[in-house]
Amino acid sequence: MKPITFTCEETLPLAPEDIARQILDLTKWPDFHGYGPIPGIQSAEFAVQTPGIVGSRIRVTNRDGSSHVEEIVEWQPDQRIRLQMKEFSPPLSRLATGFEETWEFQVTGNETHVSRSFHLHAKTFPAWLLLQVMTGHYIFFGVRHSNDDKTRQLLQSLGNKAQAGMVAEAAAFGEVVVLATPWPATEAAVRAAGDLQSKIVIDCTNPLKPDVSGLEVGFTTSGAEQVAQWAKGAKVCKAFNTSGSNNMSDSVINGIRAVMFVCGDDEAAKSVVMQLADDIGFDAVDAGKLEQARLLEPWAMLWISLAFQGGMGRDFGFALLRRSKDNPA
Ligand SMILES: NC(=O)c1ccc[n+]([C@@H]2O[C@H](COP(=O)([O-])OP(=O)(O)OC[C@H]3O[C@@H](n4cnc5c(N)ncnc54)[C@H](OP(=O)(O)O)[C@@H]3O)[C@@H](O)[C@H]2O)c1
Repeated sequence: MKPITFTCEETLPLAPEDIARQILDLTKWPDFHGYGPIPGIQSAEFAVQTPGIVGSRIRVTNRDGSSHVEEIVEWQPDQRIRLQMKEFSPPLSRLATGFEETWEFQVTGNETHVSRSFHLHAKTFPAWLLLQVMTGHYIFFGVRHSNDDKTRQLLQSLGNKAQAGMVAEAAAFGEVVVLATPWPATEAAVRAAGDLQSKIVIDCTNPLKPDVSGLEVGFTTSGAEQVAQWAKGAKVCKAFNTSGSNNMSDSVINGIRAVMFVCGDDEAAKSVVMQLADDIGFDAVDAGKLEQARLLEPWAMLWISLAFQGGMGRDFGFALLRRSKDNPA
């Protein structure tokens, strides 16, 4: 079986030796928030440190509570650095025999083009299939300016897993369409998307007033129900609106998964959206029919007001506690 490979590319205003030095600075490792099936890092420490660097072993504690060891197997900062990731705890240990991470450097003037690839060696064919799915979804960003710096930098950071184009092209491409526009632009964006018949549309928007003091609609209807009227024939679900974008990339807080409520009228569409929320790392919870967005949008407002007016900042999320029947204490 071929290893599963995914690559992220970036151009940095640094020499390869500086980048290599940063790789050895383990205080920076928790900046890695995970990629595909590989969990984000909570902490890292040297278990073995050799004078020649090759053979050094780093013990890593992951944000999902698992752990693994990384061994440096090649150290040539002018060309390539290779690390072998092993001794994973479950569930990765059941799926893969090992992971390899390769950094390749190409210098142009004062900049270095860095290509960071992960190679996953699956244990069995079903594990290979599962890892393929976990490795990620191809993304087509529907944007207004596909050549601006913001879009180019975004695509570069995602490697070969994404592209960008017109909103209608993205909508036609995707099985799942994610709507993440400021509320005043949402109707125009849905109209620009064109035919959304039978598509799963995830409405992540919040119908905020321009001064963010509250919601434009609510209680007898919701932004999501409004979106469903604009996106005729689409299977609209509301999700990813009740937490900050910082929690989307890092949904585990102090070892506990933040909750993500999903509502929608089409049960099959909702289960796809729940799976996506789960893949990202959230505790995905079915909140019922789309009408429940009337509750989820004000709840998002609670997060926003605590973060920005309540002085809590963005570094928090909500979690759901369940009393188990076996252990009701
Ligand atoms: N940020 C969060 O933490 C967060 C969390 C949960 C939910 N939300 C909700 O998600 C939505 C987006 O929030 P955001 O913070 O990501 O906003 P943002 O940073 O202002 O980004 C909005 C994006 O929408 C694009 N856009 C604006 N008008 C458009 C149009 N007519 N057609 C296509 N694209 C258009 C903008 O593109 P250009 O680059 O062309 O301007 C920009 O990329 C909001 O409804 C917000 O309430 C946000």
